[in-house]
Amino acid sequence: MAVLHLLAIVAFHLLIISEAKDSDFIYKEFTNPKRDTFVYGTFPKDFAWGVATASYQIEGAWDADGKGPSIWDTFTHNGRSHKKQNADVACDSYNKYEEDIAMMKKLGVSHYRFSLSWPRILPKGFANEVNREGIEYYKKLLDALHKANIEPMVTLYHWDLPQVLQDMGGWENEMMANYFAAYADLCFQAFGEQVKLWITFNEPTIFSLFGYELGTDAPGLPHNGYGAYRVGHTVIKAHAKAWHLYDQKYRKSQGGKISIVLHGNWFEPKNPDSEFDRAVAEKASYVELGWFANPIFGDGDYPAIMKDMIANNSRIQQLSTSRLPEFTEDDKRMIEGTFDFFGLNHYTTNLVAHKPTVSEHFASFFMEFNGEMSQDKESWPEPAGSPWLYPVPWGLRKLLNHIKQTYGDVPIYITENGFSEGEGPLNTKDTARINYYKAYINEALKAYLIDSVNLKGYFAWSLMDNFEWRSGYSERFGLYHVDFEDPERPRTPRESANVYAKIIKNNGFPVQAGTDHTEL
Ligand code: NOJ
Repeated sequence: MAVLHLLAIVAFHLLIISEAKDSDFIYKEFTNPKRDTFVYGTFPKDFAWGVATASYQIEGAWDADGKGPSIWDTFTHNGRSHKKQNADVACDSYNKYEEDIAMMKKLGVSHYRFSLSWPRILPKGFANEVNREGIEYYKKLLDALHKANIEPMVTLYHWDLPQVLQDMGGWENEMMANYFAAYADLCFQAFGEQVKLWITFNEPTIFSLFGYELGTDAPGLPHNGYGAYRVGHTVIKAHAKAWHLYDQKYRKSQGGKISIVLHGNWFEPKNPDSEFDRAVAEKASYVELGWFANPIFGDGDYPAIMKDMIANNSRIQQLSTSRLPEFTEDDKRMIEGTFDFFGLNHYTTNLVAHKPTVSEHFASFFMEFNGEMSQDKESWPEPAGSPWLYPVPWGLRKLLNHIKQTYGDVPIYITENGFSEGEGPLNTKDTARINYYKAYINEALKAYLIDSVNLKGYFAWSLMDNFEWRSGYSERFGLYHVDFEDPERPRTPRESANVYAKIIKNNGFPVQAGTDHTEL
């Protein structure tokens, strides 16, 4: 039986691949037939198709109805983002959530990933002073989603820490693990009947590094070489505590799933013939994702390659202990296995070349590798409105395979993937974004169909243009355009919204798909 099943799968794959024609390359830059040929086929029946957003980036209403300030309110009010912009109003989704849901209905998504604002629910950070209006807002949103038949995926922490908790040290304070668990407990209690997919943290690598090492994001602390590792250490414990809490106290009655969302780039050796480039690219893949993935999805601890690297560099810097904190055996037992699925945010690929960068005098995560990151500006397609974002679709397939090989056959949701454009007048013909979505979703399809990666869902970032952190409104990721000059914040679908709707309707790219978009 198993053999027959296998033969059927192989035959099916041969069929869909042979259907592809030479013209079936989305990007003229990528025409390696084995790697880049467009493949026809569909995702599993129950595949989750979604869009994603985050509270600070869309809600606005920054001080309405009892909400407390977050570190991002403070950061932007201090003029630290592009053109001193802030998200005081943003997309005004606090008031316009019904319109947002109507847009989702038109797209035909089955899922919506959004985040809860901790300071809207607990203005003072702690769970003993609950802001009822904050709870009511999210309950209304969740009710409206259920009425629209859209399943919520809810992130507890997407970077907007209550300012009062930052005043106590923020994520560098180890007590934060307990404070977070108390906040999570309250959320499970308040919303758990309506939420079956929980995310503890969004992209801890990014907020640790940019907030507490480089200081370019809130809370803006340039604690080079130390801050991010301390933050990561506490965040991993906070995640594990929240996971166990859900597991022990709520899972049975509420029946949901809970995990974490990690940021993952793919790293490709700049010179594939160089042993050094290959080694440093491999190290980058194991460390960027593995910093958080290895403790949670692996053996409860940081990857050995990361521990060795930072210990060695610390020695070079004449330090008697490593800058990377250590987990106790009890910590490791608590952390290992605290996942129900793998949430992956993926946008792009980097080339990595070996280059000695470690300094005796200056410590930074970005220098630990003895590698230099770059992009292939000659032969990759034009970057997005975000200068770091080059479309390299095959990188997604490689990364999905890397996750499967490194962490096992874990169910994976692509919780974010998307493409930005710069500021400018409304341009609904967003061909570059359309190409990006088609090519990346097609690589996800290859990973599922050909490589048997256990892919459960795909979320586009983002439903609409929103506040892109330190870049303000200068980088637009929306399937819908938002006019931030207009107090009504009108939303207009771009052509990519039509294309995404069609992909969802077809559950991928069936051979007989007809035209490639649905009019909204
Ligand atoms: C990942 C983050 O989760 C999200 O907040 C951000 O807007 C997108 N990347 C695009 O940079």
